[in-house]
Amino acid sequence: MSQRKRVYLDHAATSWPKSDAVIEAMNHYVQSCGAAAGRGAYHAAAEADGIVSVVRRDIAALIGAADAGSISLHSNGTAALNAGIHGLLREGDHVVVTAAEHNSVLRPLQHLSEHQRIELTILPVDGDGVADAEQILAEIRTTTKLVALTHASNVTGAIQPIEVVARRMQDSSGFLLVDAAQTFGIREVDVRVGIDLLAAPGHKASAGPLGTAFLYVSPVLHDELLPLFQGGTGSRSESLEMPKGMPEKLEAGNLNVHALAGWAAALRDLRVETVSHRERTCGELAEILHRSLADLPHVRIFGKPGPLPIASVVIDDLDPGDAAAILDAEFGVETRAGWHCAALIHGYLGSSPQGTLRISAGHTTTKEEVTAAVEAVAKVARTIHHQ
Ligand SMILES: Cc1ncc(COP(=O)(O)O)c(C=O)c1O
Repeated sequence: MSQRKRVYLDHAATSWPKSDAVIEAMNHYVQSCGAAAGRGAYHAAAEADGIVSVVRRDIAALIGAADAGSISLHSNGTAALNAGIHGLLREGDHVVVTAAEHNSVLRPLQHLSEHQRIELTILPVDGDGVADAEQILAEIRTTTKLVALTHASNVTGAIQPIEVVARRMQDSSGFLLVDAAQTFGIREVDVRVGIDLLAAPGHKASAGPLGTAFLYVSPVLHDELLPLFQGGTGSRSESLEMPKGMPEKLEAGNLNVHALAGWAAALRDLRVETVSHRERTCGELAEILHRSLADLPHVRIFGKPGPLPIASVVIDDLDPGDAAAILDAEFGVETRAGWHCAALIHGYLGSSPQGTLRISAGHTTTKEEVTAAVEAVAKVARTIHHQ
């Protein structure tokens, strides 16, 4: 990789750079520990167990979960969401979901629906990519087992009404799954509002490395959830059956302790107060990003400004893929173009079929970087339109 200056604005995909503490923790684990977790009893194996316990404990504290045993660890957000979705749903169940979802929710549900295992209702979103809580609640019937809702759209950053849905679902027999991929680490999310399943990767806003994610499973679902994978867990090895208890039942195979060591270091800096502080920082960046983009001629923004520093735009007469390539080549501004693994939202935003150019910042992004990106977009738009 060249040493040219990078203006990294693809935080909605994954956060970068990682802190020295994260890098040091990973190096330390590889060089000095290297043992598998949950398997051995020697000193280094106990150290690996300690890393895993700390990650579970810190996640539980951040999301208001009473018990760290309700947190299972996975290799990415998609794996965590699949563990929740496939683990919960049975033949004949009805599921309500919205067009704002990421494909890591939509595709497993579509798969189950195509194989006639579930009945799926996909609700529209408004022109800003926001789902309507009343519409979601109105769709819940006696057979509804699951409502799946993202906390924030990864295309526009639009916050979805998870608290209202969670509160009002309390009397229904259905369960609520929240995908907090875009918010965990920079916006408070507390399962005590009535969230039954909560999934998030560790490599986005909580600033851990790739290869990390968690699924929170409410105690009421500990028995009900079936494991998507079966295999070694380091416990009850004499049995052909998977352990029945959380979190082992969802964690077949070795955990990625190398990455978890890094995530543990990232989580050490993350407390509920830190989340509020990062939320404020991100809110300021979001404000600058949206306000300055809105002033640019020949640039269309999709979705309303919100608290997350994500903006989806299109430069008139320029394909988003070409725009991203020019921004990278000419200005070192790294963004992402296309559909952003969200198959349905673009139909409502008006950004189909070309998708968008997504500029996404994180809590480590500076205001200068955001301004540099907006200036680069402005220059590209001026060049294309000969101004
Ligand atoms: C809203 C949302 N959900 C789920 C995911 C999936 O996470 P992962 O890439 O870690 O599988 C992403 C990642 O882009 C996302 O933005």
